[in-house]
Amino acid sequence: MTKPIKGFSKLSKEDKVNWIVDTFFKNNPNAKKLIENYWNDDSKLQQLHDEFIENTITNYYLPLGVAPNFLINGKLHTIPMAIEESSVVAAASKAAKFWFDRGGFKAKVINTVKVGHVHFMYEGDKIKLKNYFDSIKSKLFSDSKSITQNMEKRGGGILDIELKDKTDKLDNYYQLHCSFETLDAMGANFINSCLEQFAKTFKSEALNYLEFSEEEKDITIVMSILSNYVPECLVRAEVSCPVEQLNEDKGISPEIFADKFVKAVEIAEIEPYRAVTHNKGIMNGIDAVILATGNDFRAVEAGVHAYAARNGQYSSLTHASVENGIFKFWIEIPLALGTVGGLTNLHPLVKLALEMLEKPNAKELMQIVAVAGLAQNFGALRSLTTTGIQKGHMKMHLMNILNQLGASTQEKATIAKHFENKTVSHSDVVNKYNELKNIN
Ligand code: MEV
Repeated sequence: MTKPIKGFSKLSKEDKVNWIVDTFFKNNPNAKKLIENYWNDDSKLQQLHDEFIENTITNYYLPLGVAPNFLINGKLHTIPMAIEESSVVAAASKAAKFWFDRGGFKAKVINTVKVGHVHFMYEGDKIKLKNYFDSIKSKLFSDSKSITQNMEKRGGGILDIELKDKTDKLDNYYQLHCSFETLDAMGANFINSCLEQFAKTFKSEALNYLEFSEEEKDITIVMSILSNYVPECLVRAEVSCPVEQLNEDKGISPEIFADKFVKAVEIAEIEPYRAVTHNKGIMNGIDAVILATGNDFRAVEAGVHAYAARNGQYSSLTHASVENGIFKFWIEIPLALGTVGGLTNLHPLVKLALEMLEKPNAKELMQIVAVAGLAQNFGALRSLTTTGIQKGHMKMHLMNILNQLGASTQEKATIAKHFENKTVSHSDVVNKYNELKNIN
């Protein structure tokens, strides 16, 4: 077991690396070389990345790919995706092309309200608390003017502050439930700064409120924080076409395909075991775009999954129907995204990704991300209900297997050609590689 280390964060980067290499790798120079191999030669660029977080020792690469041919509301997009899973970008590109030929995706933002709370404890008369809140509500707004004025100039700001009584769930627990419009910013810092100011005003003004007893004046602010549950920051994306246009060379008629597809979605709507995997596939597409565009994928994941369980049972984020011969497939998800602030102004590849998307505003990015999720789900369900998932997965995984085996470029090309029209399995690839190497 290693010993605890004091003052690690104060060490230079080199000393941190030396400590890691010494402590965990018996000073093996290869470990040090590996860490340093991932440093960028451009020291300014490296410093930028070093300073994103504390205790940076090196960079951790993920591939940045693109999925072209996404027609969304009549406009063509090439969508950047940062992801390690081999089949995701290929599946997205395929789904984009499929729907390009059938009129593309339609998307619309339903709402953009974000929320946050001052969570507090109050022991006393409920009517007095309500009267106190009503009497200082306007001061909550005015005391935060220095934080909100720029956002207000651009048309955003605090939408409302409500007092919520939660004492039926937890003794003495109340909230200031606050809603915000943060326009093109994800808005986390803006919202949290507002909330902390509300808390300050709410606590200090209570001391001067004459109706309160001494005990009632003693409001305890537990915490002030935005919520990543944003069911009112909602976007919808859909595709539709006549069933007969679902003709694809998958050895299955369009009618049977549509029927199986709708059933697959219905299964995910009622069966949580399936819903989780179904939604995971959707998040393959969503997270990849969220990461590439410098947004917070943990926030999006948390909010999306809470939304998927909003009716008391975890369920599918997508829905499908066939009515009057028309196949329709859609998604509705909460997405609190930003296209200004945070990493969007800092990470050169995030800037590049946003430029590739022609500098979308937050609403446009919400639409693009929702479409990426829908396309990913379409691709997965299409494979699952026809050929099975492994055919495409293993084809994309082939390079990973060959890289693990240490195959040369020439060997990779020969083996990829061999598997062009065959189902890939790990053992078949190993056998083929050994055969090529004459190893038995
Ligand atoms: C794998 O990353 C995602 C899938 O499992 C999604 C699904 O089953 O719908 C293929």
